[in-house]
Amino acid sequence: MRQGLVITEQFLNGYSSDWIVMSQAWMITGSSRGLGRRLAEAALAADHRVAVTARRPDGFSDLERVYGERVLPVTLDVTDPAAAARAVERTTEAFGRLDVVVNNAGQADLGSVEDTPPESFAAQIATNFWGVVHVTRAALPILRRQGAGHIIQISSLGSRMGTPGLGAYQAAKAAVNTFSLSLAKEIRPLGLKVTLVEPGDLRTDILGSDSMTVLPRTEAYEEAVGAVAARLAQHHGKQPGDPRRAASVIVEVARMAEPPERLVLGSDALSFAEAATRELAASDARWRDLSASVDFPVDG
Ligand SMILES: NC(=O)c1ccc[n+]([C@@H]2O[C@H](COP(=O)([O-])OP(=O)(O)OC[C@H]3O[C@@H](n4cnc5c(N)ncnc54)[C@H](OP(=O)(O)O)[C@@H]3O)[C@@H](O)[C@H]2O)c1
Repeated sequence: MRQGLVITEQFLNGYSSDWIVMSQAWMITGSSRGLGRRLAEAALAADHRVAVTARRPDGFSDLERVYGERVLPVTLDVTDPAAAARAVERTTEAFGRLDVVVNNAGQADLGSVEDTPPESFAAQIATNFWGVVHVTRAALPILRRQGAGHIIQISSLGSRMGTPGLGAYQAAKAAVNTFSLSLAKEIRPLGLKVTLVEPGDLRTDILGSDSMTVLPRTEAYEEAVGAVAARLAQHHGKQPGDPRRAASVIVEVARMAEPPERLVLGSDALSFAEAATRELAASDARWRDLSASVDFPVDG
């Protein structure tokens, strides 16, 4: 079994008992394509050991040729809680510890709420939300015993927006956000870290037919959802965000002693985040008196 090179900060500056882990043990969900694949490449290039997990883990021979034992292909469909537990166990057995868990696997269909059948709705919630819950819950006992570890959740800036046609996907991502913010407060006292990453549009397969199903549309939704479908079809392959750069940033964040709790990724995401914050503040201010009107009158 290969152990990571661990240097204590005490060694470096004499006093602190914090560690700087030079070679971390990573586990990434959805490593077959897109951001997950780029993240695996970036973490391996940074000398980390990486459990590359996928529903079909047969596409990693190129990484294994270059990085040998530092690559561990593991089968994982994140919707299966038992498989999540097995994947965490295999990773920890192989690497001797678990430092960074990235919940990256995700999938979106495009359809109005009315046109989205329960199976599609449930599948998107299962992958984007329950997958995060299963993997996080499987990893927590290990990280807690270590007294160290970092969970990185790949959410989406869309979780703050409410885009026509993406109700199921964005609802699942919004659930990931609040789940992760609660989790962060629970595990910070245990020495564990959580970073919620909210990317804008990254140039991956996510809008392609291998990832996204465009559901048949009722004509009444042509204006709202059809317009988004046309925009996304045009946008595919032209998204501003570079998944390689996004991956490098995430590897950097995993090295930080005090990483961000929330990180927006991409200049498009920054503009959308600022607009969403302004709109929310303006709406709350506009309806302030009505909101406050339900309180019991103050005595006296
Ligand atoms: N690209 C963007 O613009 C963007 C923006 C915001 C957020 N994100 C988020 O970033 C993450 C990565 O997306 P991407 O852009 O890289 O998309 P992608 O190119 O479509 O890749 C999605 C990955 O998730 C995997 N996956 C899907 N369902 C899974 C399941 N049930 N179990 C395990 N793996 C599963 C896929 O594996 P298979 O090969 O088996 O299908 C694939 O590896 C997602 O969480 C996505 O929501 C992306």
